[in-house]
Formats: sequence, structure tokens, C-alpha cells
Amino acid sequence: MTLIRDRNMAPEGLEKIEWVREHMPVLRELEERFKRERPFKGLNVAICLHLEAKTAYMAMVLKEAGAAVAVTGSNPLSTQDDVAAALAEQGLQVYAWYNASNEEYDEHVYRTAQTLPHLVIDDGGDLVAVLHKSFRGHLGEVIGGAEETTTGLIRLRAMEKKGMLGFPMVAVNDALCKYLFDNRYGTGQSVWDGIMRSTNLIAAGKNVVVIGYGWCGKGVAMRAKGLGARVIVCEVDPVKALEAYMDGFDVMPLLDAAAAGDLFITVTGCSRVLTKEHFLLMKDQAILANAGHFDIEIDKNDLSALTGEARRVRKNVDAYTFPGGKRIYLLGEGRLVNLAAADGHPAEIMDMSFGLQVLSLKYLLQEKGRLDNRVLTLPPEIDRTVAWLKLKGLGIKIDELTPEQNEYLQSWDAIS
Ligand code: ADE
Repeated sequence: MTLIRDRNMAPEGLEKIEWVREHMPVLRELEERFKRERPFKGLNVAICLHLEAKTAYMAMVLKEAGAAVAVTGSNPLSTQDDVAAALAEQGLQVYAWYNASNEEYDEHVYRTAQTLPHLVIDDGGDLVAVLHKSFRGHLGEVIGGAEETTTGLIRLRAMEKKGMLGFPMVAVNDALCKYLFDNRYGTGQSVWDGIMRSTNLIAAGKNVVVIGYGWCGKGVAMRAKGLGARVIVCEVDPVKALEAYMDGFDVMPLLDAAAAGDLFITVTGCSRVLTKEHFLLMKDQAILANAGHFDIEIDKNDLSALTGEARRVRKNVDAYTFPGGKRIYLLGEGRLVNLAAADGHPAEIMDMSFGLQVLSLKYLLQEKGRLDNRVLTLPPEIDRTVAWLKLKGLGIKIDELTPEQNEYLQSWDAIS
């Protein structure tokens, strides 16, 4: 069973998957191993991720590993219909299409949960939430899952705190080979990819306001600087604010930045970050983009209340016009700009994130019955395995400690 737009689009989708596969050596190596070992034979795996080519390749690897795989998108604007068609053509169950309404999106996630997975991969927590709301009787059969994002982990930790989590979930987002690369370099590049594709405007010379200085915000600000923008960082956490300052950025409250900014990028994971009070202060033609998981960071209701209906002026660009004529442009309807207006993170980056994902599922299977229903730290050996595989794929060799050095590092009294 599938719910996709158009199966005839499969050839273009397959082309995209083949391209990313060539740039994902970690997953290729795991694919080879899993083809031999078939570790997920007889198991249902459900995936709720941004349904683009890299995700599709990982889903195919899990199928090669013996699983019956069901896939849905984790955002209504990030599904690519040709990729969804290609996966359906490969015999996976796919429930997703681009520009799904909220009801359609909910149905897609529901149908995916209805396949009664033993293992899950989630991005943002929607699939896990639906399993807990509507499939409670099945929770005991779920061996576990892995969560991709900061936002998903916030939701999972809230469930854990209330004693509600029905199976163990590995916090892939908190692994070193995830946030150091995906959150920082992946978001740093793909957010700019989305902004450039949708606007075709220049970053150099602009006042770019980056709101949120977590690993994703750091990446976005770093790349803004590299592109020649003047970067302002807004933060609520004093340590992160200080870090931004020491990294060479101007740091100020958002209300002060509102009048100065040409381009605003929300990267907070929080709700109602840019609201009426900021919109009123902004310049004519200010541009707004969101890089957080949900479309709640830029208050679209406030924008509409101030301006009325938005007008689509270019693909992925909506103009909100104030009574006096001032315009504010919103990119990708305030959804993740890197996925709504581009293809998400580069393949070489998702290679590591998805390597961690599939190895997390293997770990959950190996430890079946021994793990608590909690949010679990990814075992450091998995991080190291992925780093080794990535270095190998890049053809990079590194040094090893000598036996004396090893001994030295394990002693406390050998300093001479
Ligand atoms: N491609 C697939 N999943 C993604 C994610 N979480 N972020 C960016 N690109 C992606």
C-alpha cells in the first residue's frame, strides 16, 4: 500500500538516489554488511524523515538488511514526489506527498504507524507521538527507535519525564558525529542553499540576524560571515551569547536587531520568536527564514493580522504588505527553509547522520529487552565506528598512540 502523488516520477527519483549514494560511503559500507547479515529480517521498520534522496537511500539500505520498511515525510514541504515514487517502485510502503495539508500529513504519519513497526526512526517526534496516542496496545512490541533532531528530543524528554515513553529511544541528535557535522556544517550550508535558491539575492553586505546560537545557529552564522554578511546573533542563553560574542559576532536583544536586519533566520526550536512587535520595527523588504523544525518560530498569524493575505511573488517567497506599503518576505512558508526550498543537508553530511541511525537500530536489536524505556545516549563506539568509516571513505589515515603513550595516558604517577 502506498499514498504518493505519481508513480511515473520514479525514474527521476531513482537518479537522485543514485547520485547521493555515490557520495555516502558510510551507508554504502553498511549496505554491503547488511546485505550479507540481514540483521532486520522479519522486522517492520517505520521511518518519519524528510523524504528526499538521502533518506530514501537509507530506507533502501534497511530494506536490503531484511526489514519491511514504511516511510513518511516529517514535514509537508520537504517530501520530493519523485523520490517518494522511486521508493514505492522499490517495494517500500510510502505515505507522503509534497505540500500535504495538515490533515493529509497526519494521515500519512498515521498510516505509517499502522504498519506496526518494531523499530522506528523519527525526525521531530511526530511518528513516536502518533504511536503513543493511537497505537498504545502495540507499544510493547516496539523494540525501540532513534530520533534525529533537537526538537524531537525535547518532545521525547518531556514524555520520559512524565513516565509516558513506551519504548527506548536513542538520541542520535546528541551523538558527536551528528551535531558536530549535521547541525553545524549541514545546516550552515543548506540553510544558505535554501535562501539563495528562493531569493537569488546576495548575502554580502547584508545585516543578517541569526536567532539562536546552538550548533545549527553557529553553522548558519559562520557561513553568513564567510559570505560577507554583517552578522548579529540573538540568544537567551548567557553562555551561548558569550560564545557568539567571542566568535566575533554582534550580540543584542531581538528588539534591537529588528530594525537593523535585512535578513532574519530563526534557529531556536522555540515558538513565537519573531512576532508582531518585531515585524512592526522591520525595514521594507526584510526577509524572514526559519531553520527550526516546526513552522512556529515566525508567527504567521501575526504577520497576516498586520498585513492581510500574503502574495506569492516567487517560488517559496510570500510578500506580506503593510497598509503603508512596507513589505516583509517570508521564505518557504516559515517551514525549514533548507528542506522546503532546497534539498536539505549535503549527502556527505547525511551519510554520517544516517550511518548513526541504522547502527542505532542494530544496537537496539542487539540489546532487545535490556534497555529502559528512556531517551538513551548513543554508545560512543557507534560514534567512533561512523567516524572511522567516514575517514576511510575520504581516504584519510590518522595516527595511533604508541604503547608507551597509551600507558602514560592511563597512569597518574608517571610524570617525570
Ligand atoms: N535530509 C533528510 N533529513 C534531513 C534533516 N533532518 N536535515 C537536513 N536534511 C535532511
